[in-house]
Amino acid sequence: PPGGPGDAAGQALPVESRPFASYGSALHITLPQAPRAGQLLTLLIDYEAGEGPGVCWLSPEQTAGKQKPYMYTQGQAVLNRSFFPCFDTPSVKFTYSATVKVPEGFTAVMSATSWEKQKDNTFVFKMSQPIPSYLIALVVGDIVSADVGPRSRVWAEPCLIEAAKKEYDGVIEEFLVVGEKLFGPYVWGRYDILFMPPSFPFGGMENPCLTFVTPCLLAGDRSLVDVIIHEISHSWFGNLVTNATWGEFWLNEGFTMYAQRRISTEVYGLPYTCLEAATGRALLRQHMDATGEDHPLNKLRVVIEPGLCVNPDDTYNETPYEKGYCFVSYLAHLVGNQSKFDAFLQAYVNRFKFQSITADDTLEFFLEYFPELKEKGVDSIPGFEFDRWLNTPGWPPYLPDLSPGQQLMRPAEELAELWAAESLNMEAIEAVDIMGWRTYQLVYFLDQVLQKSPLPEGNVKRLSKMYPKISKAQNAELRLRWCQIVLKNNLEAEYSKVKDFLHSQGKQKYTLPLYRAMWGGSEAARALAMETFSATAPQLHVNVQNYVKKILGLAAAE
Ligand code: BES
Ligand code: ZN
Repeated sequence: PPGGPGDAAGQALPVESRPFASYGSALHITLPQAPRAGQLLTLLIDYEAGEGPGVCWLSPEQTAGKQKPYMYTQGQAVLNRSFFPCFDTPSVKFTYSATVKVPEGFTAVMSATSWEKQKDNTFVFKMSQPIPSYLIALVVGDIVSADVGPRSRVWAEPCLIEAAKKEYDGVIEEFLVVGEKLFGPYVWGRYDILFMPPSFPFGGMENPCLTFVTPCLLAGDRSLVDVIIHEISHSWFGNLVTNATWGEFWLNEGFTMYAQRRISTEVYGLPYTCLEAATGRALLRQHMDATGEDHPLNKLRVVIEPGLCVNPDDTYNETPYEKGYCFVSYLAHLVGNQSKFDAFLQAYVNRFKFQSITADDTLEFFLEYFPELKEKGVDSIPGFEFDRWLNTPGWPPYLPDLSPGQQLMRPAEELAELWAAESLNMEAIEAVDIMGWRTYQLVYFLDQVLQKSPLPEGNVKRLSKMYPKISKAQNAELRLRWCQIVLKNNLEAEYSKVKDFLHSQGKQKYTLPLYRAMWGGSEAARALAMETFSATAPQLHVNVQNYVKKILGLAAAE
């Protein structure tokens, strides 16, 4: 231990890198003698990093301002091992501190509870709560900040900071307060939001104290704020109570989807929240249709053998999110009373905070907390066995009731019906005014249209003309759906919109579905895919690049 006997006499130890998996190698350090259980020892590791997939280096052209380079790290799931040597598993938690020296004109920020700028443009960070390795994150760039709440500010490049402040000024605190009321104390001190360059591969990443988000959230109307509520919800589910293995990622994301929708219900009401949940269910439907319900990744508990070839990042899909949400909703349904279930969630966080756990821990605690349910044998009701939820692929056996959203969903469903007709009833269509619709109503409408596509010849062209609010939308969720519709209906006249959208951002959940649709389409669509990929590949995160290569059959054999 530092300061202990032998500290000054630190000795060089034999080090060896051994094969582990396609996504990393094992660092073996030989100790002079076997340590006793509980013995403290200090290892000083001198290393250089930068080439690996965890650290992303952007040229000035890849930023919003186009003036200065930018670097960021993305640790989840298993990329931080190329940023620093660590036990890169979510089952191990630790505090950290870091001293980061950056060139003049740059600012460094990290997922840390405190930070201080010292001389020589050196920043010192400290995370005083134990966290898993995947939550350590660093950004260095030309970034500035603005306050948006008593414990929150937004960070962005100077050219985006006004828009960033305007998007979320005065709204973040309410989400935190509602989260605390539902799930217990917010332990991380600050909650700040950093707007990333357009190639950031996720909608949001819950780095503690400092959520990273895509600039696509700057819609101008707060319509995509559900992503922020989602990342805030990880402050309890994921960051405090963490999945011990990536095979049970649903413990992070399924509980977070549930928590997100609880907060949303409190703030925006049940109808709107059910509408948002219905768009989530549509994503799960699309995913299961595309992969087949029986696909092994369509289970909540995924088999990831250590040292084998399954890379946890390759298991990323809608199942842990939306099937996970259904399972948590099912547990709530068994309890039958919202405030009792809320109290359970709070007790669960309190019981397992700062720990990493398995689904068995969760379910055992659930049955202990509700002994009358345990008595009744709710874990083995035929068709709804907990074991089936966890280990059987396929559509969730229980779906929460989203009918309170009907008032918002029904008009969208009816309008989609009208547009799918062989001969269009323009009178009925014109009687519907979509100008006042919320973004998620439009999203829901477009998902219905997509499901019914290809529409009869000429209908989509007509729809495009009639609703520039949709076909010329700047909102990323609308653009994604419009591009999907364009491709499914082979509307070559609007291929440029697909290309422009893929040039404008690099979020994985937007990029992969569009390449899949292009590759499954006409010759012209395939050509569009190739052309777009060769122009944008250097801007994409390496993981996203590799997934697109796989879709396009360009992947080198492993
Ligand atoms: N933690 C995830 C992002 C992630 C997952 C990164 C797996 C790396 C590996 C984050 O909380 C997330 O789920 N983001 C969603 C938000 C959405 C569900 C509201 C996203 O990026 O779309
Ligand atoms: Zn999440």
